[in-house]
Amino acid sequence: MNNWIYNEFKHCGVNYSDIEQAEIYDNQHQKFRDYEKEFIDFLSNLSLDNYHNVTMIDLGCGTGATSLYASKYFKKIYAIDVSELMIKQVIKKSEKENITNIEFINSGFLSYEHKAEPVDIVLTKSALHHLPDFWKQVALLRINKMLKPSGIFYLFDVIYHFQPTEYINKIDNFISAFEAMAGEQFKAEVETHIRDEFSTFSWIMEGMLARAGFEVEKIRTSDGFVMEYYCKKVRDIALP
Ligand SMILES: C[S@@+](CC[C@H](N)C(=O)[O-])C[C@H]1O[C@@H](n2cnc3c(N)ncnc32)[C@H](O)[C@@H]1O
Repeated sequence: MNNWIYNEFKHCGVNYSDIEQAEIYDNQHQKFRDYEKEFIDFLSNLSLDNYHNVTMIDLGCGTGATSLYASKYFKKIYAIDVSELMIKQVIKKSEKENITNIEFINSGFLSYEHKAEPVDIVLTKSALHHLPDFWKQVALLRINKMLKPSGIFYLFDVIYHFQPTEYINKIDNFISAFEAMAGEQFKAEVETHIRDEFSTFSWIMEGMLARAGFEVEKIRTSDGFVMEYYCKKVRDIALP
């Protein structure tokens, strides 16, 4: 591997390679998330005629918030994460439920080589912000290659969607809202996210999506922070 390639396994900000973090993840997140509801909402926005044959890659799958539900509807899921410990959590859950159509791979946006047929959907939820912008662009180019023509790319992440001059109030309010929902410990995690991770502005993300061969078909945000992009692959990207 080239010596200049970003080391995506080293974890910036919240350390998902920490056993305690992996074990408390679901408890913390379920204070403000309903994984099943999130997946049904995602599915209803896809307007697929038939989802039983759908194949999907979940990049940054974590403890399986999406992969586990997707496995009940779709044919095959590739669940990818740089944290072995997060993957261990989702493997435990999938074994309990006798789920057999998820392949778990300890890899990441910049290192995962998709050897099987290109998939119908690539999804990434709350994970792309772990890469600095240059590497986000590289990740998006690589995602293009994993998808079939007209395949769907769904991006859910903290992406700033407000005027830059408003940043102090916006960020303070965002942190307070999470503190109210999930307590002191999660407040500290959101502070870490803002300070040490690489969330970017929506117009930067949209420029990167276009350059990676994606057309944005739908954007959703309720608070100017959490953004959802439903994209279609409209052209193939040639990579050396
Ligand atoms: C906030 S969690 C989100 C997990 C899951 N997608 C969810 O919705 O709950 C972020 C996950 O991204 C993973 N991650 C961080 N950098 C990554 C990378 N470069 N490639 C793949 N996964 C990465 C972390 O290990 C962690 O499991």
